[in-house]
Amino acid sequence: MVPDELSARRLARWTGRLAYGGDYNPEQWPEEVWHEDVALMRTAGVDTATIGVFSWSMLEPEEGVHEFGWLDRVMDLLHDNDIKAVLATPTAAPPPWFTLAHPEALPITPTGVRLIHGSRDTYNPAAPAYRAAARRITRALAERYADHPALALWHVHNEYGTVSYGPVTDEAFRAWLTRRYGDLGALNRTWNTAFWSQRYGRWEEIFAPQATQYLPNPAHVLDFKRFSADLLTGCLDDQLAILREVTPGVPVTTNFMLPTWNHYDQWAFARRVDQVSIDHYLDDRGPAGETHVAFGADLARSFNAGRPWLLMEQATTLVYDYAGGRMHPKEPGRMRRNTLQYLARGATGSLFFQWRSPQVGAEFFHSAMVPHAGPDTRIFREVTELGADLLRLAELAEPPDIGPVNDHRVAIVWQPDAWWAADTRAMPSSDIGFLDAVRRAHTALWNLGVNTDVVDPDGDLARYDLVLVPSMLAVSDDQAGAFDAYVRAGGHLVVWHFAGSTDEHLRVRPGGYSGAFAPTLGVRVEEHVPLAPDDTVALDDGSTAGAWTELVHLAGAQSVAGYGAGTHLVIPPGAPAITRHRRGAGVAHYLSTRLAPDALERHLDRIRSEAGVSRAHEAAGHGLEVVRRRAADRDYLFVLNHTSETRTLVLTGTDLLTGREFDGPVELAAGAAVVVRETGSTP
Ligand code: GLA
Repeated sequence: MVPDELSARRLARWTGRLAYGGDYNPEQWPEEVWHEDVALMRTAGVDTATIGVFSWSMLEPEEGVHEFGWLDRVMDLLHDNDIKAVLATPTAAPPPWFTLAHPEALPITPTGVRLIHGSRDTYNPAAPAYRAAARRITRALAERYADHPALALWHVHNEYGTVSYGPVTDEAFRAWLTRRYGDLGALNRTWNTAFWSQRYGRWEEIFAPQATQYLPNPAHVLDFKRFSADLLTGCLDDQLAILREVTPGVPVTTNFMLPTWNHYDQWAFARRVDQVSIDHYLDDRGPAGETHVAFGADLARSFNAGRPWLLMEQATTLVYDYAGGRMHPKEPGRMRRNTLQYLARGATGSLFFQWRSPQVGAEFFHSAMVPHAGPDTRIFREVTELGADLLRLAELAEPPDIGPVNDHRVAIVWQPDAWWAADTRAMPSSDIGFLDAVRRAHTALWNLGVNTDVVDPDGDLARYDLVLVPSMLAVSDDQAGAFDAYVRAGGHLVVWHFAGSTDEHLRVRPGGYSGAFAPTLGVRVEEHVPLAPDDTVALDDGSTAGAWTELVHLAGAQSVAGYGAGTHLVIPPGAPAITRHRRGAGVAHYLSTRLAPDALERHLDRIRSEAGVSRAHEAAGHGLEVVRRRAADRDYLFVLNHTSETRTLVLTGTDLLTGREFDGPVELAAGAAVVVRETGSTP
């Protein structure tokens, strides 16, 4: 792709204001409601509506028969009211007629159950009939609306993430394996199929790893996860090719579900679309909810190469309590504060799921911008106030090509492979997990007031002063070499226990665990000592740790903290737990145990200070969030007080939300926020 073309598309529909709106499903309502909808949208300052996300059966009620009349009227109505359309391809919800015509394209679970329609996402991404039908409806939509003035952005599909097993998948998996390995000998060696009599003599003998008698082969499972992710990338590519052919000037996105949905490769998706967009839902009512927002936003921005990204969905007043089976309301003011967090970290606006609560249907009690109780509600008033705030912040809406909007010096490694590798089962402890380790690291930095990116291990590490590798089990020789070169050139690296223990095929590296990083870290890990779920150990520097310990020998590194007496008979008192290794011009640190949150913060604070990384503000941390967002010729300091006390800090500049000028100590009440155009920056 020619970069200029990409830029042209990105800029094509740039309007100079922050996007505000949400998923809009007018087809679920009589047309008189549509007119009330757009009137309320104008009241709330809405300028963007995402339409058509699950509308396939309304657009193509019978195979090959299209009914675009209602969508024409919706597009016209939006345009007449200065509302941009983010038009979705409806391919995440094939219609019931598709099920009858193509039962072979239905998804099959790992236990062999064939699912039937009645919900959404009822398709197998490997099924040729599904792929062909998805391409046809995409082309029909693109041709119909190519020149419609309301069309601002294509929204491909919805939250790619469907995984299916069964005969259709088996065939596609075999083709993928043939391309990857060329001959069966290479596959047999890589998967070590001599173990448990799994040697394959013909490709037809290989199946997708459905439920089996006991533990599956982890190398087989990992390759299946890679295959499934490639399949979804192929689905995205099918639609991108059509949209770029028919509507070359219209930018394209697809909404990533973050951060719990991991059936695709976010870096691969991000490279393909014009702009990354994410869906993000709070999963905690307490302060952990705020760290969750920061985490999702940091992922989105980093996937988009540091550039502005779009918040495609959040909830007006809903916090998922998955374990408790409850949906809790957000307290007044929280939606606004969370939205400012996303904006601080690069969002180009905020869209919500969804505009109006349906009277019945799946998710009918999900929160919306217009709730069941109507516009005379706390929720709609907060929605309207947020719309006004976003207009006050309009100058943040830089053209999306401005380049990185934050200048963070720290990055956490994010790699889908690492997550899939940790999820293959048969690991020495179920406490070994990728997302959990990354979240703990991110939260520790958030509490320290240190802002961070995530980085692709195959990307540009040299941009950062400090790189964290919380969990990256499968590491290739090339990746190990890149990390080592980064350190020798002056970088600071922190590696967590167990990382680097296998190569990219999940084969344990002989001679000591964390072997890929051994020369960089200057340690040899002889033995794993996982702990019982509630066990803790004390280190001799006063730190507490749990979940996991290791027998570590120094091989050039120095010990910074040792295991305390009584840790485990395998580990002598004083044996190294945390180490530091000067390597070339840089330093590599190893954490051989899972430190308790306060101990992790203390050690990361020591390490970031040695790496010369400063905190976002001297007052930042532990609930006072401070983030600098850059624009072409000015800087904005977002300060958000998530604590329950008034906090005071020195600020200089103009608060865009109130117009107040600051030049000295500013008191920020509990829950309050300011967005300061810093002095020296021109509006
Ligand atoms: C996702 C989907 C939406 C809706 C919301 C509910 O993000 O994209 O269609 O189901 O979840 O939270």
